[in-house]
Amino acid sequence: MSRAGLDKNPHDIAEMFDGVAKGYDRTNSVMTLGFDRRWREQTRRVLDAAPGEAVLDLAAGTAVSTVEYARSGAWCLAADFSLGMLRGGASRDVPKVAADAFHLPLRDNSFDAVTVTFGLRNMSPTPAALAEMLRVTKPGGRLVICEVAQPPFRPIRWLYHHVVLRMLPLVTKPFSSNAPAYRYLAESMRDWHDQKTLARMISDAGWQDVEWLNLTLGVVALHRAVRPGG
Ligand SMILES: C[S@@+](CC[C@H](N)C(=O)[O-])C[C@H]1O[C@@H](n2cnc3c(N)ncnc32)[C@H](O)[C@@H]1O
Repeated sequence: MSRAGLDKNPHDIAEMFDGVAKGYDRTNSVMTLGFDRRWREQTRRVLDAAPGEAVLDLAAGTAVSTVEYARSGAWCLAADFSLGMLRGGASRDVPKVAADAFHLPLRDNSFDAVTVTFGLRNMSPTPAALAEMLRVTKPGGRLVICEVAQPPFRPIRWLYHHVVLRMLPLVTKPFSSNAPAYRYLAESMRDWHDQKTLARMISDAGWQDVEWLNLTLGVVALHRAVRPGG
């Protein structure tokens, strides 16, 4: 597979995730030194969903994120276009739907909140995905994006790009079912937007009150926004 870039073919992306579905959860935990669990917990807190609300967890993969968000008591729907990933999470007791983020088979204004955890950077063009999320969110509803980010402190950013991301494919090799896919993932992490740029894209897509919170020295960030009109 070629370099990640930010211009990705959806068919290749779905196929790649089908290929890593087996063992995805375990490799992800190894790759993040177990921090992934903490990042999803923090996403649940920022999402602040409540019983009676409907939450769309887009790019849910094996639904590992969806079960975490369902702990809030809200009704949480896992959506993903990789059938392999959805099947990998078959034992997770949350509703699931096969869906492409750019053409969601869901009604306008139907969710109190939409969230994407480690999925947005695979969606190109990003503004179109953000606009489709806006369409299915109720006026006044929330968007929470948990995504890899660019550490703001320069020495940390250097270490992250030149040491951590270079080592990642080597560290994950013994655990993953698809080594090239993890090389791709490391490249997509390096190439992704910084927090300010993503905030601007979210706002340009029609969301308001956009803010972000850096997690773990800014290796990951949570972006939060509201659909106007609530
Ligand atoms: C890194 S996994 C994240 C899974 C999960 N949310 C988590 O917290 O680990 C990214 C997921 O995004 C999905 N994805 C990427 N582009 C998508 C699109 N256009 N529509 C639906 N799902 C997409 C992939 O199939 C994959 O399952």
